[in-house]
Amino acid sequence: MTEGAPVDGGPPNHERPPKPERGKTVHGEIANAGHRVLAPDDAEVEAYLEAALKAPAPERSPEDRPGGGVPRGEPSASEPDTVIVLDFGSQYAQLIARRVRELHVYSELLPHDTPWAEIERRRPKAIILSGGPSSVYDEGAPRPDPAIWSGRVPVLGICYGLQLMAHELGGEVIPATRREYGPATVTITNEDGLFHGIDREQPVWMSHGDSIVRPPEGFTATAQTESTPFAGLADPVRRMFGIQFHPEVVHTPRGREILRNFVVEIAGARPTWTAANFIDSTVAEIRSRVDAHARATGSDGLVICALSGGVDSAVAAALVHRAVGDRLTCIYVDHGLMRKRESELLRTTFEQNLGMRLVMVDARERFLARLAGVADPEQKRKIIGDEFIRVFEEEAAKISASGRIDFLTQGTLYPDVIESATSETKAAQKIKTHHNVGGLPADLRFRLIEPLRYLFKDEVRTVGLELGLPEAMVMRQPFPGPGLAIRIIGEVTAERLDTLREADWIVIDEIKAAGLYRSLWQSFAILTPVRSVGVMGDGRTYANVVAVRAVTSEDGMTADWAKLPYDVLGRISSRIVNEVPGVNRVVYDISSKPPATIEWE
Ligand code: XMP
Repeated sequence: MTEGAPVDGGPPNHERPPKPERGKTVHGEIANAGHRVLAPDDAEVEAYLEAALKAPAPERSPEDRPGGGVPRGEPSASEPDTVIVLDFGSQYAQLIARRVRELHVYSELLPHDTPWAEIERRRPKAIILSGGPSSVYDEGAPRPDPAIWSGRVPVLGICYGLQLMAHELGGEVIPATRREYGPATVTITNEDGLFHGIDREQPVWMSHGDSIVRPPEGFTATAQTESTPFAGLADPVRRMFGIQFHPEVVHTPRGREILRNFVVEIAGARPTWTAANFIDSTVAEIRSRVDAHARATGSDGLVICALSGGVDSAVAAALVHRAVGDRLTCIYVDHGLMRKRESELLRTTFEQNLGMRLVMVDARERFLARLAGVADPEQKRKIIGDEFIRVFEEEAAKISASGRIDFLTQGTLYPDVIESATSETKAAQKIKTHHNVGGLPADLRFRLIEPLRYLFKDEVRTVGLELGLPEAMVMRQPFPGPGLAIRIIGEVTAERLDTLREADWIVIDEIKAAGLYRSLWQSFAILTPVRSVGVMGDGRTYANVVAVRAVTSEDGMTADWAKLPYDVLGRISSRIVNEVPGVNRVVYDISSKPPATIEWE
């Protein structure tokens, strides 16, 4: 269901970048110090609502799957065919799952040692073994449950996955003296099966660790390179295949077809994982869950959701609304720190177009009043978080006055589900702890609805468009919960907000006009506290300096400053100086992260 191939897989180097510790900021401090929340977009605002409602941690079954087939018995018609990717530590294991989904086949990433019983319960059509940094000879080298070699389900081993397959099935693998990575040309020697329809000579991205010197019985070589006669192995009878190179990265141009041959042709998975099917089955599932709960408890089955202006909460809300209509109430806090026209777009979309019950709280003055005189970044974040929680508490109390709220909707995404060591979502734990609600006993009034928990971000966007949400909302770059307050260096005032909003609008406008918006992780303006001298006409000016920031990034953890074309920078600069009163100078931020952060505060 994913669109195109937005992510450049990049060469795998098999070394995972260090993950930030949960509960710590990118810089390693306790996140609660001022709520610098790692997850961009909606996580923060959703977590404030959770804190306000004292919502319990979500309870997610590890066997939870779209279509509701597992563990509820027989395969259901709505349950998509599934390909399991076992993660042996490759940096790009997630990317394999995404590539499979781009073929419209649902794919799930599981730890390498997932017991067979759990794999089998998912009724996989195929299993893919990812690469990984280990050697099969390493002590404690990761191994799968040996039952995967039973031949009941087709298996494709990639890189380490292939070596594992060769080693475990009785072939001979010799340890490498060094690992090699890089582009290579593979010669296909058997075009059946995996390489069907693919030219004999192929550029690929090789990753070479141990070497296979003798394949296991039943296997024959299907591809070779200069450095190995066993770049591909196959045992078509047992439906086991292996490749030494990486089909998931863009440096293997025909990788997609190789994966398709395996998943669709060899394993027979039906390509039914589409946005439309996902919406149908998810809506039906939410409806039946809410109805069942309402019947069982005699409640009205009311659902509540925080809208932040970001993509995830918007799509989650639209899905739930389709399922339960007016039983859903969305709350949107207009804290006055949003970008230009954002609140209006939200109202038009949800209230007018979708006919949703939307509580739009105009809290602009409250936030401004509390931010008056505050220049410290962490203090700003703290105040904004506190105020959010207060507003949510008040609004939730009003809604509950007319009926008990049963469900809380969250826009949790699949990567968060995979990563959450505990079952707690995203920002919630940090924020709850900070507000001293972490230790509360689970309050069973609320259940969580997380309709996006199976989706990657680009799939969420596709679903959003399919649901009819405007492109301007669905394709939006991430925006921090504290909004423009952390892009105004120094005190936040109504006037400075207006200045920044206008400058920011011009940045986005020009970036979009140049066709660069989607290739950038974020692009925005910052209002600095610096004033500088200028000349306008005959007069001297002494006015604000606006900084422009544009970065490319995969996930916001690291970022490069974007090499924007000079003419685009030139247009942004002259438009800001000409159109925004009180600004006479524009500078471009050429710092990468680290050591700088993306935001200035
Ligand atoms: P930094 O500035 O830490 O930002 O490099 C990384 C990503 O996180 C976003 N960000 C935030 N998001 N609340 C949020 O919801 C915050 O307090 C916050 N601070 C930074 C930032 O926009 C970028 O995408």
